[in-house]
This record gives sequence, C-alpha cells and structure tokens, in this order.
Amino acid sequence: TKYIESFEQAPMYVAVMTYLGYGIVTLFGYVRDFLRAVGLEKCHVAQERDEQKDFVPLYQDFENFYTRNLYMRVRDNWNRPICSLPGPVFDLMERVSDDYNWTFRLTGRTIHNVINVGSYNYLGFAENNADFLKTVADTTCQFGVGVCSTRQEMGNLSIHEELEKLVANFLGVESSMTFGMGFATNSMNIPALVGKGCLILSDELNHTSLILGARLSGATIRVFKHNNMHSLEKMLREAVCSGQTRTHRPWKKILIIVEGIYSMEGSVVRLPEIIALKKKYKAYLYLDEAHSIGAVGPSGRGVTELFDVDPTDVDVMMGTFTKSFGASGGYIAGKKELVDYLRSHSHSAVYASAMSPPVTEQIIRALKCLMGKDGSTEGIRRIRQLAENSRYFRARLKEMGFIIYGSDDSPVVPILLYMPGKVVAFAREMLDRRIGVVVVGFPATPITEARARFCLSAAHTRDMLNQVLHHLNEVGDRLCLKFSRRKYSSWPDLCEETDFELDS
Ligand SMILES: Cc1ncc(COP(=O)(O)O)c(C=O)c1O
Repeated sequence: TKYIESFEQAPMYVAVMTYLGYGIVTLFGYVRDFLRAVGLEKCHVAQERDEQKDFVPLYQDFENFYTRNLYMRVRDNWNRPICSLPGPVFDLMERVSDDYNWTFRLTGRTIHNVINVGSYNYLGFAENNADFLKTVADTTCQFGVGVCSTRQEMGNLSIHEELEKLVANFLGVESSMTFGMGFATNSMNIPALVGKGCLILSDELNHTSLILGARLSGATIRVFKHNNMHSLEKMLREAVCSGQTRTHRPWKKILIIVEGIYSMEGSVVRLPEIIALKKKYKAYLYLDEAHSIGAVGPSGRGVTELFDVDPTDVDVMMGTFTKSFGASGGYIAGKKELVDYLRSHSHSAVYASAMSPPVTEQIIRALKCLMGKDGSTEGIRRIRQLAENSRYFRARLKEMGFIIYGSDDSPVVPILLYMPGKVVAFAREMLDRRIGVVVVGFPATPITEARARFCLSAAHTRDMLNQVLHHLNEVGDRLCLKFSRRKYSSWPDLCEETDFELDS
C-alpha cells in the first residue's frame, strides 16, 4: 500500500488554457519591454549606471524577462513579512503597493491569526512555549549564540558531540556529523564523495542543493525520471555495460541520489526497489530525508522505517533540521568511516562555522522528545497526529474533486492549479479568508503544473483543518479548481500518469 501514489493528469482543456495564459502574459511582456525601451513606460529594473553604458550589461537583461514581466505582477503573494512565530497560526504585516508591485509599503496594520498551512513545521516544534524551550534558553545562557569558529578549530562543542550521538542513535546507524546549514550539507558533501570519472544518477525532481553538489563535484550527471525504476535500471545497466563516455573504462563510482519525500510532489521514494537495484549493480545510495525525517514512519525515523528497510543499506543518509525539528542545519549519517572521512574532507566541516548552540539544543530537545527520552509520550503523539492530519486532509480534498499529487502518507500536499491567473487569485482569496498558503510555479515546477503546496503539521487542530477545507471548497468552486475526473470516471486509474515506460 506504500506505493499508492496519485499523479492524475490535467484534462486537455486545462493544459491548453494554461499555455494560452502564459502566451498572453508573455505577449504583454514583450509589448511592455518595447514600451520601456522607447521610454514610454518607466523602467524600474536594475540598469547599468550612466557612466558604464558602454560596458557589457552586468544584469543580463533578457534572462530577467520572466521576473520582470510575469513575477512582478503577482509578487505580492510571496515574501510577505511575518511578525510572529511561524506556528500553526501566525501574524502577517499588511503591505500595499502603489506602483504595481515594484515596491511595497507597510500600512502598520497586522493581519492576525492567519492559519499557516505553508511552513515545514511537520511536528509542531516551531513553538515558543517557555517551558518547552527552557533547555534552549539555558544553553544560550551557557554557550552564547555564535560559535565563532569551525568544528576543526575551536568550534567543536560538547553539545555538538551529544547531538551527533543522538542523531546516529535515532537513525540506527554507526555515526553522524551535523552541519550549520542543510543546503550546504548537500552542496558541500557530494563533492567530497564523488568527482571526475564518477557517475551520479539523480532523480529529475531532486532539490537544488543536490543538483548544485552534483555539479560542483565534477562527476558526470545523468538524470532519471522521477521515482521511475525502469528509467533508473536502464541507466544503471548502461553505465555498468558501457562505462565512461569516451574511454569506456568502468566508472570509478556510481552514486544514486534520491530524496525521501519530494517537497513539490508529496511523493515517497521507492526505497526498497532502489536498494535492490543499487545492490544488483553495486552502486552507492545517497538519500536526502529533508522532508521525511521525523515526518513519516511509526516513530518518525523516516522512509527507512516507513518501508521497514535496514538503514545501513543506505550508504549516505542525509537530512535537515529545518523542517520536522523546527531548527536549522543538516546531518550526514552512516558508517563511521564515511563520517570520519567527511569530518576532514568536507568543505562545510572544515571551512564553515559550527552550528549555533541554541539551534543545537533545540534539535537535541526535539530528538529526545521523539525518542521518548524526555520521559513523555508527546513525541509519539505528535507523529501520530501528523499522520492522522495528513490522511484526513488528503481524503477530504480528493472527495472535493481537487487534483492532488503524492502518497497518502505524505504531509506535503500539492493541489494542482495549472493556470497562472488562478494561482494568483487562489493565493489572494485564501489570504482574504485568513489562510496562509504557499503557491509555486515555474521554475520550481514544470511550466504547466503550477500548484499550491500545503504542509500539514501535528500542531494543526481538527478545527483548523476543517476551516481550511471549508474555504478551499468554496474557493475551489468559485475559481473552478476542481479538475479531477476520477469521481466521474468508471476507470479512475486511467486518469493516472503511468510509469510503465519500457525500453525505448
Ligand atoms: C530535499 C531538500 N534538501 C535540502 C534542503 C536544504 O535545506 P535547508 O533549507 O535546511 O538549508 C531542502 C530545503 O528545502 C530540501 O527540500
């Protein structure tokens, strides 16, 4: 049942209207660029200084077309200033624009008690209860906030070592190392593991930090279709049979890079099949659990627990503390030799400042809570609550007729909106109803698959979820967003995109 995932395709008219929508705004963009060029419209974008007019432009003009002409019109829906804890409800600072979103002005008013269905606060550890945060406050008093050194030099604190033991223990592996930033954990550690003459097989929907790490490494990168085992096996077979591109010598190493839960799709990696493939072809596996650690598995131990596979079958376990733990930073875990090697070879270990002490203690506190080491059952309660909230919310959305992507286990719930105009209308309408949503479009998603991405939390009460669902139902009808044909179809499975792509 773990593999039941839904990727219903849009009806044809939706795809046509979406392209048409982008076509129209692009056309207007060209017209306005022309008006700017001839001086009929004021140009707000960064321009070359007068005394450097004969230089090659520093700000690539045409590449900013999308930002200048499409994003600018709708950017009131992003980067809103928040003036409270980003918990299950939050407060926003009201702002208005007098020049069509080129600049914003704060009105001084606050929009209170907006239900937050966008933050990655899966287990509700983004909280400000002083009792819960007591140890974090004590640690801050003892160690201060900044470390002012790297782990290699003067920044190796006792609480860092405590955290690393706890992480390894939680994950069921020999050892772990933590880093101050999740993004850098990927982008700086992949180059420490592979390089020229190595092959990276990367899922097409991998996060930018993984892509950047892969590119920095200098290894050859091949991209397989999202979670598609046929595509992965084909590449593995080809890699083993043919070797390196020109010389045909065997690849030095093959590293498969995947994520636990994909943050824009809500899909769960097909871990058992990938492990079987990696063993068959003797490749290594790098698993990024940014969105799955804490969030799935009966005791929050991520996708290895969800599928009941041995965590030691994953060569490199990576994750971040920015989501389920309400903190910041990342970890790499696995065999002791792997971690010891990274301690001295990874740029983010040697050249970046160590993790801040209050952040470290926040993660320790969250981990102890999840492992029941705080003497309570609060951790397990939160994990169960999150699973219950995710299933409830997904089931209700499906009933309403929205197209949602992903696995029933996933707390990331993307609702497909497709057309650019609808995306913006949806976000504005939801905020008018005091519901804070995240909407995403190109380039974070394919151009025709813009969506709203909901992240559920154990801190959401049933009442909050019902309010969100009630408004979603109304807004869905009003903006005609209920695109799913499953309800009316006698063969609902035919609406699904299949992944049976035999060799082509
Ligand atoms: C899969 C994945 N890996 C890595 C990161 C980067 O982590 P951080 O935001 O903690 O720097 C993210 C962030 O969203 C992510 O989704």
